[in-house]
Order: sequence, then C-alpha cells, then structure tokens
Amino acid sequence: MSLLPILRFPDPRLKTLAAPVRNIDEGIIRLARDMAETMYEAPGIGLAATQVDVHRQVIVIDVSETRDRLLTLINPRIIESDGKQVCEEGCLSVPGIYEKVERAESVVVRYLDLAGQEETIRGDGLLAVCLQHEIEHLSGKVFVEHLSRLKQMRIRAKLDKQAKITA
Ligand code: NI
Repeated sequence: MSLLPILRFPDPRLKTLAAPVRNIDEGIIRLARDMAETMYEAPGIGLAATQVDVHRQVIVIDVSETRDRLLTLINPRIIESDGKQVCEEGCLSVPGIYEKVERAESVVVRYLDLAGQEETIRGDGLLAVCLQHEIEHLSGKVFVEHLSRLKQMRIRAKLDKQAKITA
C-alpha cells in the first residue's frame, strides 16, 4: 500500500474527465486500496481517482465516525435525486477552504463494487453530499466551481499564497 499525492486546485489536471473502468483488474484494486489509505491518512471522508491524477471512475468514501465503513464505488452514476440541502463542504484538493454548497438532500447511486457486482446505494444527508461531491470530481468539477466568481478568485489567491509559503 502507498500514499498517493493529491492534486491541488486549481491544477488543470483536476478538470480531466475520468474514463469508465471496463475491467476490474489488479491495477484498479491496488488503486482503490491506495486511495482508501490516502483518504484515511489525510484525513478525509471521500476521495476520487481524479484527485490522485488517475483518470478512471473510482471513488472511495467513509462518512462513519468510527472510520470503518469504507465504500468503494466503480463507475458510479446518480440515478435518482431528491430535495435540497445546504452543507459546508471542504475538499482534500482545496485545503483549508470550507464553503456552503447547495445539493440534493438524497441520491440513489448505481455502481460496481470491487468484485464487479452491480450495486445501488441510497444516501441522504452527509453521505448524499459526499457521493455528489466525489462523483462530480470524476467529471472534472471541483466544489468551489459552485461558488461565485469573486469567491473563486479569493480562494485561488489564498491557495497561491499557501503554496508559496510551503514551497
Ligand atoms: Ni473533493
């Protein structure tokens, strides 16, 4: 297992569209394992392959307080969404930034598990937010893109400053 480096917004590679996984081979299983380790270590509640510069449709999520309910979703698709909620979100690719985003209150997601079985999961509240946030990464979108242009400019400036301090 190994920790994977996480791309930081506004890295243009975060805009890459992830390709569907056709064959769940050793490489995909290793990727999912390394992504889970990276997410727990960060620590975060979700990570998309896009964020570790692998452009395949793989996400990992664990919103449990006990950190022992790992979900690995291959080729996830939202097939139903209902209601509205506003939740303060953060992202491992946008360190230190937390902003309110409006999303569906509940979603149903169809995906393949690591054994290649088709599954569906219904999530509401935080799990629904996390599913929507991670699935969006696979289509090249970062949560700050829901915010006003002015807010996005401020966030870019703040992250630039951070990058200079840590460089
Ligand atoms: Ni994120």
